[in-house]
Order: sequence, then C-alpha cells, then structure tokens
Amino acid sequence: MSKKYLYSLMAVLVAAATALSACGPAATAAPTAAPAATSAPAATSAPAATAAPAFAVGVVLPTKNEPRWIQDETRFNDAFKAAGYTVQILFSDGDSAKEKANVEALISQGIKVLIICPQDAAAAGAAVDEAHAAGIKVISYDRLIRDTASVDYYVTFDSVSVGKAQAQYLVDHATGTKNPLYLYAGAATDNNAFLFFEGAWDVLQPKIADGTFVIKNSDKAVGLQGSATLTRDQEGTIIGQVTTDWKFDTAKNLAEANLTAAKASDKGNVFILAPNDGTARAIADTFGADKDVKSYVITGQDAEEASIQYIIDGKQSMTVLKDVRTLVKDAIAAAVDYLTGKTPPQTTTYNNGKVDVPASPSPIVSVDKSNVKAAVIDSGYWPAGDFKNLP
Ligand code: GAL
Repeated sequence: MSKKYLYSLMAVLVAAATALSACGPAATAAPTAAPAATSAPAATSAPAATAAPAFAVGVVLPTKNEPRWIQDETRFNDAFKAAGYTVQILFSDGDSAKEKANVEALISQGIKVLIICPQDAAAAGAAVDEAHAAGIKVISYDRLIRDTASVDYYVTFDSVSVGKAQAQYLVDHATGTKNPLYLYAGAATDNNAFLFFEGAWDVLQPKIADGTFVIKNSDKAVGLQGSATLTRDQEGTIIGQVTTDWKFDTAKNLAEANLTAAKASDKGNVFILAPNDGTARAIADTFGADKDVKSYVITGQDAEEASIQYIIDGKQSMTVLKDVRTLVKDAIAAAVDYLTGKTPPQTTTYNNGKVDVPASPSPIVSVDKSNVKAAVIDSGYWPAGDFKNLP
C-alpha cells in the first residue's frame, strides 16, 4: 500500500474522531505516527494523546476456522499498523446472527464504511441493509453479498479465473483418456463457490466431453456433462452433491465416502478438483491413504502455509495465490475513496441477484513446485524460514 493512502486514511480517521477507546490506537502511538503536516495536513488536527479517534471503518470477517481469514486479519492489522493505528476487526464465528450483531455494534460506534466478508451470502443481506439505512457505505470483501441493493462495492479477486486455473492444471497434467476425475466444491452459501465452479467447468467440460476425464463422484455432474455452460441452479445441483462446506471434516468424510463407493478401477491415477487449500489437504490425505490410488493430482487455493509445505513435499499439486495484501490494499483504498467523497475504481460489475455491483477484480497466480519460491517466498508473501526443503 502506498504511504499516501495510509496517511490519507489516517487523516480521515482522525478527522472523524470521537472518543472510542476500545479500538483506538495506543495513546502514545497516534501523535508520533502522524505524518508531517506537508504530506497529510489533516493530521495536524490529531486529537490530544488522551482522546482516541473513532474508527470510520469497521471490518467483519467470517470465521477463524478457515485459515484463509486469519491471513486477512493479519494483513489488515499490518496495513493499519503501518499507519500507527489499530483497526476494529470482528469475526462472525461462522454464524450469521453473530455477524449481524457485529455489524450492529459497528453501526453504533459510528463507522462510515463497512468492509464485510459474509459468512452466508444471502443471510448477510439483512445486516448490510441496516448499515446502509444508517448511511454507511458497504464494501463486500472477497465474497459477494447477494440479493440486496445495499452493497456499494465489491473488492475481490477474479474468482472465475481461480476455477479456470485449477482446472487447467488438471488438464495440463492428464494424458490419454478415461482419467478418473473427482470433483469437490466450496460452501453453497458462498457465492465464490459458484464462481470457482463456473471457471473450472468451463475448462473441464470439453475435456470430459472428449473422454480425457471421467467424473467418478457425482451423478449430477455426469447428468450435466454435455452442457458447456451451466445455469446457477444447475451449478447448485452439482455443488450440493460435492460440497465440502469449506470444512476439513466434511471434505474428509465426503472423500472417504466417495472412495468407499468407488471400485478399484475408478481409482489408479486420479485427478481431483479441490476448491481450496484446507479441503485439499484433507482430501489429499484421504486419497493418499487409499491403497488403490496410485497417484493423484490435486488443486487448491489460498497459498496457505500448510499447503505450501504440502506442495514442497509433493502432497498437494498446486494452489492459487490470491495475494491478500492486494485485497486489503484495495479495500482500504476503496474505504478512503468513500470517506473522501470519491468513487472506487470499476472495471466490471458482478450481479448479486438484485443489482450490478461495481468491482475491479485482482488477478491470481497459479503456483506449483516449479514456481513456489518465486511466487510465494521471493514476493515476500511468506518468509522462507517457515518452510522445510524449499526447492
Ligand atoms: C472463499 C474464499 C477462499 C477460501 C474459502 C474458504 O470465499 O474466496 O479464498 O478461503 O472462502 O474460506
């Protein structure tokens, strides 16, 4: 993030200040961290060290049980800390009622912009409707909130590209025909699960149609394999059958059930579409333990540290790096735009079932053993010392 943005955010936060000790910066931190008056004039009106500024921006994240969101919390904290401030980040513990209570708490604290990643795309509508009614700008973060007009902006990666990159990896590593294909998806309550699956289907379907792959764990997908594009309802039918719900245990149990139902001839050298890293590790461990599975190629997403180690160790084939530093930077920049009366950048829109939400999606990077060091270590995403046997 450019210092300029951090400083302008800090200036805006300070300008919006009222006493709020719970999430303000340490009393001594604010004045010393304030930039020179020339670079951020508003900072000269910083409150006395004893008066902590209110946060004009609140962040709500879905759960700590899916490691991805701990990355986001860390990166948000790092970005705000760089400006000498702490940020109020609330977790919803996988519970839409808690999420609504979090949003209500932030509304009562006087935030002006809400950055929220919904636990459940539809259920979050009521919470953001309340925020919008209170005059707060709503930024849907990573996951799109559906079926409400109360979303002003969507900060996201190109999620269809994520699915395409996963599927392309499987295609690029398959030779011959009749390769067993096992499909897994994210949570049906997460709009991203549909976008990932849409991208994957786009690349896989022609390779199912030409006999390269044979789907082994979803009769719903088999029933639709002649269709190059699927409606959202059709995607939902398949996702409903192969969902991991983003949970390790659900993923593991489903993989076990699939392998129990499959004949030895449905195994051998298998190809697995796993939607993210957490579920990929659970599914990989399950397939790896089956005596009839000779080899597997498995996808992932999020560049979680545990999966980077799995990739180095040859236990997971690839992951998709979505540089969360970029997402956090974009979210904070969009918040600053709203706080300063500007409009965040738009390159496309995402329809959320009710309105077209403006967005400027960020690109993703496909990562396997061959580029893991360059993409994940040399880029500063994770420190080399966190891994063993780096290539
Ligand atoms: C998705 C997100 C992924 C992954 C998953 C499970 O919405 O885009 O990066 O983390 O949720 O939490």
